[in-house]
Amino acid sequence: PSVTYISAAGSETAVAGFAGDSVMETAVRNGVPGIVAECGGSLSCATCHVFVCADSVFPPMEDLEDDMLDGTAVDREANSRLSCQLKLSDVDIRVTTPETQV
Ligand code: FES
Repeated sequence: PSVTYISAAGSETAVAGFAGDSVMETAVRNGVPGIVAECGGSLSCATCHVFVCADSVFPPMEDLEDDMLDGTAVDREANSRLSCQLKLSDVDIRVTTPETQV
């Protein structure tokens, strides 16, 4: 699937992803700015925060992700997720990255 990362300033970067990989891994592998992922995906840093666009759907979050989202640098919103927890399937995905994660 394609994964499109939209910066806080509005610039879009689209890359090819692989089913089973996370939205965070896909960004890091392709050098996409806006996702820091300090903890490498172990759900302990909250620097992989993204806002999921309305046309992109993921399974509901677990409680630990929900708790970690309370500690993000930019306040969470209804569509906030931690991108290390978002696994790609075969559908295209669009997310926006917060302005502090650069
Ligand atoms: Fe650290 Fe997602 S990479 S919580």
